[in-house]
Amino acid sequence: MLNIALPKGRLGERVYRMLEIAGFGCPEVCEEGRRLIFENEENGVRYFWAKPSDVAIYVERGAADLGVAGKDILLEYAPNVYELLDLHTGKCRMAVAAKAGYRDDRSRTLRVATKFENIAQRYYASIGRDIDVIHLNGSIEIAPKLDLSDVIVDIVETGTTLKENGLEVVETIFPISARLIANKASYEFKRSAMDAVLRGLAAQTEGTV
Ligand code: PRP
Repeated sequence: MLNIALPKGRLGERVYRMLEIAGFGCPEVCEEGRRLIFENEENGVRYFWAKPSDVAIYVERGAADLGVAGKDILLEYAPNVYELLDLHTGKCRMAVAAKAGYRDDRSRTLRVATKFENIAQRYYASIGRDIDVIHLNGSIEIAPKLDLSDVIVDIVETGTTLKENGLEVVETIFPISARLIANKASYEFKRSAMDAVLRGLAAQTEGTV
C-alpha cells in the first residue's frame, strides 16, 4: 500500500485528479464530509488530507510515502525528502511587498513580517541587508498598514490580496510550484510502485511550462 499525503484545498484536489488520470483513483477522496483518510485496495493507494504546511513532515517521517508540497515549504523547512517532480501546478511566487510608494531607508534595520522566516533571512543575507523578522502566522498583508513592519515576505498568486490591502510587489524572490516529494527509505523499498505514480504524473506535466 502506498500512502500519499495531499494538501487540503484546491491544489490537493487538482493533483488528486492527476493521480486519478494516472490510474490511482480512489473515488471517495473528494466526497464532502470530515473524513480524512481514504483507501483503494484494488490499486494499492491510501490517501490522506493534511494541512499543506504539514505534508512534508508526514513524508519526511515516513507516515506518507509520497506527498505534494509547494516549493515554498521545501525551501522554508528543508525537509529530508526526495523531490521527484515539478507538477507545474499551484504556481505562484515568493515576493517582498510593501505599501505603494515605499522606499527602503538603508540606515535603519528593515522590519520584515512573514510566515517564511528562513526564506526571508536567507534572502536578506544574500543582499547584505540587516533585518528584524516579525513572525506572523497569517494575514501578513495587514502588517505594513498597521506599521508593524516595513515590508512583508509572502506568497503572491493573483496579487488580489496585496492590491486590496494597498500593497505592491517590491521584488520577486523565487517562483513557486507544487512538487511531488518522497520519503527516502520508502523510495528504496517501494520503488516500483512509486515510479509508476511518478511516470503517470510526469506524463501529464511534460511539455507544460
Ligand atoms: C496566501 C498568501 C496571500 C494570498 C495571496 O494566503 O499568504 O495572503 O495567498 O494570493 P493572491 O495573490 O491570489 O491574493 P493563503 O490563502 O495561502 O492563506 P494564509 O492566510 O494561511 O497565508
